[in-house]
Amino acid sequence: MTNSAPSVNGSILRTEKIVYQGQALARDSRFVVFVDNALPDETVRVHIYKKKKNFAFARVVEILEPSPDRVEPDCPWAGDCGGCTFRHAAYAAQLRYKKDNLIEALHGLPGARELIRDVVPAPDINDYRNKMVFTFGTSPDGELLLGLHRRGSYRHILPADVCKLQSEASREIVRRVVALANELGVPAFHDKRQPNGLRTLTIREARGTGQRLVELLSTVPDDDLAAGLVNTLDDLADTITFALCTNLQGPPRPERRAILKGTGTIEEVMNGMRFLIDPDTFFQSNTIQAEALFSRLRELAASSGRPEVALDLFAGTGPIALQLAAVAKRVIGVESFAPSVEAARQNIARNRINNVDMLAADLNKVRPEGLPARVDLVVVDPPRPGLTPKTIEWMLDLAPAAILYVSCNPAALARDLKLLVNGGYQLDTIEPFDLFPHTYHIETLVRLSRADATDAAARPAT
Ligand SMILES: C[S@@+](CC[C@H](N)C(=O)[O-])C[C@H]1O[C@@H](n2cnc3c(N)ncnc32)[C@H](O)[C@@H]1O
Repeated sequence: MTNSAPSVNGSILRTEKIVYQGQALARDSRFVVFVDNALPDETVRVHIYKKKKNFAFARVVEILEPSPDRVEPDCPWAGDCGGCTFRHAAYAAQLRYKKDNLIEALHGLPGARELIRDVVPAPDINDYRNKMVFTFGTSPDGELLLGLHRRGSYRHILPADVCKLQSEASREIVRRVVALANELGVPAFHDKRQPNGLRTLTIREARGTGQRLVELLSTVPDDDLAAGLVNTLDDLADTITFALCTNLQGPPRPERRAILKGTGTIEEVMNGMRFLIDPDTFFQSNTIQAEALFSRLRELAASSGRPEVALDLFAGTGPIALQLAAVAKRVIGVESFAPSVEAARQNIARNRINNVDMLAADLNKVRPEGLPARVDLVVVDPPRPGLTPKTIEWMLDLAPAAILYVSCNPAALARDLKLLVNGGYQLDTIEPFDLFPHTYHIETLVRLSRADATDAAARPAT
């Protein structure tokens, strides 16, 4: 049997399992094929759209034997849209796939498998996102589109007026903005053909207060459009901003903005605490499920007694630091993005918390100045690339009794946990949470404690 790529489109394959990013793995002789929109244990006819030396990417053209987990998707763009990966799978099966992926990612860590709990399901599997960024585009027949990118495509946009990741109010905002742009004849930006045009629409919706922020990003100012936005979204948006991006290369980023209505910010409530949200700063995009994750984090932080000093690294606008305020004597949040540091400080004041401080520092380099010599608990919630070896090195030097790791990337988590375990920590519990139903994303909360801690109390009562 040769190790060559399946060359004939229309191959019939039997799928085995879901791999990270949601494709189903199948084998054609000894050749691996990653199949979009297939589920484990299905027999499918595929079309191969990309071939490499030892593997290929394919899409399903016919399902010959469906999985019992397969369901009829409730979105017309399911399978094509880059927003959802699993709309064709029952929710219980989605949770199983995510747990299996986590088990696979952590398979090199002795003892990890036994510690991985079932994924905590999301209470709402639709309308759960509090932030969406939609892109403007143009259909082949010239129609203005506003929505999400077709999977794997930079140019093709699928209309978001039916997108179930957001609320009905958000869908209605999309409809009205498209109608307004059509009425005024404002085109979508195109990097080759239309330099003056609309780029993105950001909608942020605070689930605890019901407040909404809408930001339109364009390459050119437009007074008529600005006035029309305020008028058409009057009952749906508490604040509206018009941002400009004159750099036509690369991803659209606001360079400056005008506030058309309100303050340019909204207020969210999470676990009883109030947070300022603006168009730029990171905030957990599933408020309800982030509440569950952070409640559990607070429990685990307190499970071996009250920390004297706790660090919240990659603190963003401070939600974890504010959770820790209730269980630690002193909390220090560290974050590099200046607007988030400023928002975190406002959030600390807004909630009348007096045992939390924020430091501005890049955590990937040296240990930030101003940290106390003794730290009992370190919480990390890094972006997708995870921690750098340098960060892990100075964390190990701090030698906290416990570390809590919040991860959005199982591969980076596996790599970092290995270094922490080699550095003298042991895994206590691994708890995945589903913050993003219908997508392959998984959030994982891990507790580690110093393996040489003789005090039994240093181990959590999980
Ligand atoms: C996944 S978010 C978590 C934020 C916060 N914990 C929360 O739940 O809202 C990661 C945060 O790390 C920050 N960040 C990214 N790279 C950083 C670095 N090198 N040093 C410090 N902070 C960084 C980002 O600005 C972002 O706020």
